[in-house]
Amino acid sequence: MTKDLLEFKQDKVLVKGLSKEFSAAIEVPGDKSISHRAVMLGSLAAGKSYASNLSLSRDNLATVAAFRKLGIGIKKQNLNGRPKDLVIEGAGLYGLKEPESVINTANSGTLTRLLAGILAGNDFFSVMSGDKYLNSRPMRRIIEPLSLMGAKITGRRKNAYPPLAISGGGLKSIFYEVPVPSAQVKSCVIMAALFAEGDTVIYEKKETRDHTENLLRLQGYPVTVDAPESGGSIITVKGRGRGELQPFNIDIPGDFSSAAFFIALGILNKGSEVRIKNILVNEKRTGLLKALKMMGADINLAVMGEVPEKTGDIKAKYSALKGITVPQELVPDMIDEFPIFSVIASFAEGKTTVTGAKELRVKESDRIKTIVYNLKAVGVDIKELEDGFEINGDPDLKNVGNLTVLNSFGDHRIAMSMIIAGLILKNAKIEMRGIRCINTSFPEFFDTVSGLINR
Ligand code: S3P
Repeated sequence: MTKDLLEFKQDKVLVKGLSKEFSAAIEVPGDKSISHRAVMLGSLAAGKSYASNLSLSRDNLATVAAFRKLGIGIKKQNLNGRPKDLVIEGAGLYGLKEPESVINTANSGTLTRLLAGILAGNDFFSVMSGDKYLNSRPMRRIIEPLSLMGAKITGRRKNAYPPLAISGGGLKSIFYEVPVPSAQVKSCVIMAALFAEGDTVIYEKKETRDHTENLLRLQGYPVTVDAPESGGSIITVKGRGRGELQPFNIDIPGDFSSAAFFIALGILNKGSEVRIKNILVNEKRTGLLKALKMMGADINLAVMGEVPEKTGDIKAKYSALKGITVPQELVPDMIDEFPIFSVIASFAEGKTTVTGAKELRVKESDRIKTIVYNLKAVGVDIKELEDGFEINGDPDLKNVGNLTVLNSFGDHRIAMSMIIAGLILKNAKIEMRGIRCINTSFPEFFDTVSGLINR
């Protein structure tokens, strides 16, 4: 076992450098973004939907619990010989019931923001509240469009943060230009549009992940996506009474954001190779692959399917990397991968610059700060920028001193990224504090690491 490399103590783990090669195939759990949407849109469908290989991370379980509270029957069922399958007994667009108590949205921005759109469309009162990290994430970005549509929605600190209280119903359609590149804001408006009078039109300057649109299309709902010549995309959603959501049967592909930690291990660990099958490779999610290829990484992607989402098998091999300036247009397509990307850049020869990524400051933590804090602690030459960071990488980076203490600041992706850094660093002796948050997205993380490095 990994006992010698990973030693656990309550909410922390001691990580030592990995000093052997590996060549192995692994699997990662189903995509978190699609799993949230499958439970939400399955609940609004007219009949029973089946979803297999769901992510049953803490965030996703919070979505299941939320829809049960709204009166939806959701059962675990072993459908395709897999234990992570759900049957969702959809009650139709108008079948939700007023919740009797506060809906717990845990650590999940996706649950909070998408569910706000659905609750705004329903003629009842509801309150959502999450953990201390979620309750300090900005919500004005959804309160604004929902209020324009006619929802009565208020939040803590003059409508800036959760808890959110919603008295829904009576929505009208709007034209809305999403002011920040955010799939959560776009999807919130799409959800509300299903209940609004008339057609809602949403414009995003830079396209973000389109899983909501893809699932709605699979369900036969009238939603169209156009690409104007000036760039971006225009999404038109038919409103109240103009469509129904058909039940579906989907197999959710592996989460690229979870796979990214193992792609990093494969390309950073001398003489190693990792193969990951059946991963979601939607272009709006895989900007990291493009950035890594620019750095010289040996990564192979074999596309296996296109509908309802693009899926494929990924092979990543140890590579000598060079620093790059990340093109700003790639930023939204790799927004969740900057913590692990910063670790990779720390081991690349030369300078890597990330700018235009201010959104990182409002994720599960202020990721610019938490990346810089942790990488500095292990000796990386990194500079904080207002909208990104700059790293002078070193392929021979060594951990100096007896013990380096790192902190996740409650952010699952910071915790996992720094554990990967610890495995790659020479002479590493790292204490990673705050690892329970890993359950937010990837409870199987440590087992997957063990499976890879213990062959
Ligand atoms: C998500 C959208 C992104 C991403 C998050 C999941 C989604 O957030 O960071 O992890 O499922 O729609 P933003 O919309 O805030 O960029």
